[in-house]
Amino acid sequence: MLKSTLPRLCCPQLHREKQCLGALQIKDESAPDEITYGTLLCSVCESEYPIFEGVAILVPDVRAYLLTHVKGISKFVADEHIPLEYLEDYQDYRNEIEEEHIEEDLESDRVNALYLMNHYLSVSGAETQWWKSVPESESPLITELIEKYWDHGPLSVVPAWVPEHSAVIELGCGVGGLYRKLKKHSDFYLGVDSSFQSILIARHLNLGTPYRGELRYPGDLLYGNLSQKMEVSIESGGQREGKLQVDFVVGEIDAVPAIHGGFDVSISLNAIDMLDEPKRLPEAQARVIKSGGLCIQSGPYIWHEKIARGLRGRAPRDTKDSASVVEWLYRKSGFKIEDSERHIPWLFFKHLRQIEIYSVHAFVAKKET
Ligand SMILES: C[S@@+](CC[C@H](N)C(=O)[O-])C[C@H]1O[C@@H](n2cnc3c(N)ncnc32)[C@H](O)[C@@H]1O
Ligand SMILES: [Zn+2]
Repeated sequence: MLKSTLPRLCCPQLHREKQCLGALQIKDESAPDEITYGTLLCSVCESEYPIFEGVAILVPDVRAYLLTHVKGISKFVADEHIPLEYLEDYQDYRNEIEEEHIEEDLESDRVNALYLMNHYLSVSGAETQWWKSVPESESPLITELIEKYWDHGPLSVVPAWVPEHSAVIELGCGVGGLYRKLKKHSDFYLGVDSSFQSILIARHLNLGTPYRGELRYPGDLLYGNLSQKMEVSIESGGQREGKLQVDFVVGEIDAVPAIHGGFDVSISLNAIDMLDEPKRLPEAQARVIKSGGLCIQSGPYIWHEKIARGLRGRAPRDTKDSASVVEWLYRKSGFKIEDSERHIPWLFFKHLRQIEIYSVHAFVAKKET
């Protein structure tokens, strides 16, 4: 974590559902600008938050986080860095990790690889035709779809909605590829995501911090799950005129660890349908931006039936589909929708013979109240 990011952050601790918001300080003041290992301390409630491999873990319940994300963390962090109070439980959980591959597991190499491709590989200007990794084995249909739609996914519609010189926060930023598309627009960008491995990769690619894993993507499954080595340029700075302009931290949408009202634009792409309470996303996006600020949201709206039932029960009668229900949620949180796109193609390259296609709704809205 960069020391210079600290003034933008705040304590995520929840006290009877109210967020502490206290200022954070680094325990060891002599720490270098890029803090690889250390502890952040809240000046109000004295909660402590560890930094592992440069990734600050800014969540209300650090113990629960370490246990549920043990898979992502233990791949990169030696046990000696885990605070002693958590170590025994952490080791017990690690022993129980299931090796089997789960599509939704954002701490798995395979899922991160699919997002890495989505965020960092393009078709136009590509040095290698990565969608044709085994010569003469490619599917003509998949090739046609990739070449036509890949570069026009959700990340591509966002830059036109972000005003120049904005301070931007992205909630659920994943591996951080949107930053590269926004860096010309923004003066400051903070990415927040609950996946440790995704934040580690985002910092590696955009701040040049070390990453012990290998960035790979799938080709022909005959050669394994992730048979291709990914070549992505590693950027080393986020420095512009001496001003640091980018960082990524682990945090949760329910307790965003960034100062409230501190940003011009809040972005969250394709995360709302992962939340138990979708209305918490517009509420969180509203809290972190200034009055008059903008919020950008997108989603393929793959609701769990339980969540869909809750939404159906509450939404007004004239909301006929997921897109209009989500717009209604945002209006209820004080936003006015300014522009929207109903169907944006979103492709995932699962291997040489399989792609997954989603249709994504996206909009930009202004905070009015
Ligand atoms: C479907 S992925 C989308 C990633 C990226 N925004 C994109 O559009 O490619 C959803 C992301 O939201 C993150 N996420 C899910 N629930 C979250 C929560 N409660 N707080 C923070 N991040 C969350 C996941 O770790 C994942 O990176
Ligand atoms: Zn606090």
